[in-house]
Amino acid sequence: QGKTSRDSNPKCIVQKIQELGINFVVFYGSQTGNAHQFAEQLAKEGRTRFGLETLAADLEEYDYARLSRFPKEGTAVFILSSYGEGEPTDNAAPFFSFITEDPAFADTEQLDDPLQSMTYAAFGLGNSTYEHYNAVVRKVDAALETLGARRVVHVGEGDDGLGTVEDSFITWKESLWQSLRELRGLEQRDTKFEPSFVVTPYSSVRQGHEGDDFSLLELSKAQNDPTGTQMWRSVQVKKSEELFTSSDRYCTHMELDIQGTGLSYVTGDHVSIWPINADVEVERFLRVFGLWEQRHTRIKISAIHSTERIPIPATTTYDTAARHLLDIAGPVSRQSISIFVQYLTHETQKLSLLKMASDSGYFHDAVSSKLLNIAQLIEITSQAGQVCPIPFAILLECVKPLQPRHYSISSSSLVQRDTVSLTVVANPIHFPARHFHGVASNFLLAVKRHGNGEKASLNEPSYDLTKVKTGTSLSLAVQIRRSNFRLPQDSAWPVIMIGAGTGIAPFRAFIQERCAQAQSGISIGKSILFYGCRKESEDFIYGTEWKAAQKILGDQFKLFTAFSRQAREKEYVQHLLSKYASEVLPLLLTQNAYLYICGDTHMAREVQHTLQELITSESQTNGELFLKNAREFGRFQEDVW
Ligand code: 2AM
Repeated sequence: QGKTSRDSNPKCIVQKIQELGINFVVFYGSQTGNAHQFAEQLAKEGRTRFGLETLAADLEEYDYARLSRFPKEGTAVFILSSYGEGEPTDNAAPFFSFITEDPAFADTEQLDDPLQSMTYAAFGLGNSTYEHYNAVVRKVDAALETLGARRVVHVGEGDDGLGTVEDSFITWKESLWQSLRELRGLEQRDTKFEPSFVVTPYSSVRQGHEGDDFSLLELSKAQNDPTGTQMWRSVQVKKSEELFTSSDRYCTHMELDIQGTGLSYVTGDHVSIWPINADVEVERFLRVFGLWEQRHTRIKISAIHSTERIPIPATTTYDTAARHLLDIAGPVSRQSISIFVQYLTHETQKLSLLKMASDSGYFHDAVSSKLLNIAQLIEITSQAGQVCPIPFAILLECVKPLQPRHYSISSSSLVQRDTVSLTVVANPIHFPARHFHGVASNFLLAVKRHGNGEKASLNEPSYDLTKVKTGTSLSLAVQIRRSNFRLPQDSAWPVIMIGAGTGIAPFRAFIQERCAQAQSGISIGKSILFYGCRKESEDFIYGTEWKAAQKILGDQFKLFTAFSRQAREKEYVQHLLSKYASEVLPLLLTQNAYLYICGDTHMAREVQHTLQELITSESQTNGELFLKNAREFGRFQEDVW
């Protein structure tokens, strides 16, 4: 009896594969949903095109202790995103440390080559502006090889820095199929694409109860978190204010009350926000796909195949799906076009979209460089009055689920334990005759406007806030995401902080914390902050707080500012580093200062490069090696995007 219960483990991937008769499993490590969508589409292609028994598997959901018993006739595919400094995505982190750091996991009798029965392929999604480009897939590949697994095709790598991830994936997957044809004798079947889901009307929603169909619990469950450890919480907006004085860019400072919600944070953590799509996008999507009239009809989504996971809560309405659950405003992908094009009936439109699906250059010029979403693409390629016959079940396969957005918390947990501050810039991208608006940043701007009774300015998207209203106040769906961005344990250690734009957010938290510590008599090391923005009069934020910090910390705090659009010459934070090298280098080289960079990747790379050169030229030390070591010892940390 003991044996059966001990041996049965529903989380065991090998058991699952055996139970379902799977011979092609696609594991994904996904943060923003791209790797996930690739995995779903690859699994589906394997089934429909080659008759494989496939499964797209979230790495987080399984247990790998028995991976050594992976079936010989099976193939494991790993689609893995790297982010930050070559770190795995949240859902891949446990598998990543398991496979790369703990190779002695397998059955004792097979220790030498524990994964010798496994055939695998791997594709990475990364960004070459980061130093550790595609580090996750490279490390996983090396670990699998060391453990005796057999690679069936070269490791594919997609570069988001060049915007070529999808092109590389499409090319790589054809090499994968080719190799599997040779190895396994796969034969291509001549079947038409079949939907994975069936969407049926459920019952009509009672008037005025539309809000019932979107709950944080359902959302958490659909994200595979039935235990509620990562449950989305409803958190009240305490206050919000505008920090910029600019006519077309806005910076929302917002304070969220986490008291009594079960949430807690540590200075340096991130806060995740579940956004809402703008009315204009929701309406466009529902109208273009002929769902407007039925938008409040309750629908039930079922999967045709038992291994297929429904990407959003299974009972919903079209309106809720478009507004709260699907990334309808995100750019449409080439693979999605190749799926839905089969459902178009208008010949000219069909031909034009087929060309986009098959010609990456044309797709780039006509679609991706313009950041067109699926409904916009259909809209501009349709003629007046033409309806688009793409079924909602197919749209579910072509549009990624909506994703939370993560922001560096701009408050210190020591100072405000129960209040999370965030600092978010909304900065529209201008195209001829239209603007592209970031989803969450503009949603938060709208929440701020509503809370303060302000009017939205021209071109600013509006949002249906009924589902974030609780009585007279507004509440957001929130989670806290742990990060490694941490002040030194000993506050007497010096810190050097470099941030541009909203990269200033976590440093506001750091300074807040150091001031509070100083005021309670704790000894504080030197804190140097390099802060870059456009103009002092426009987007230089938290100015009064820096002044207050100066009073509290005295000479122990120094703020150096770079304004890029104030004088004729652009000044960036890296220029300041050279200018004030005599302040920075002694702290770094002789006093073990902690070094932090926060902001976008280009800035971070250039700053790192400048520091390397300064260290190399001004000391006997090799700058590259110095920073590498500092990173290893946790004395050099980045929070970049
Ligand atoms: P900009 O005027 O050139 O846009 C926040 O975005 C600040 O970072 C802006 O002042 C911006 O300057 C600046 N910035 C842009 N690119 C940068 C880079 N590569 N390195 C450092 N700062 C940069």
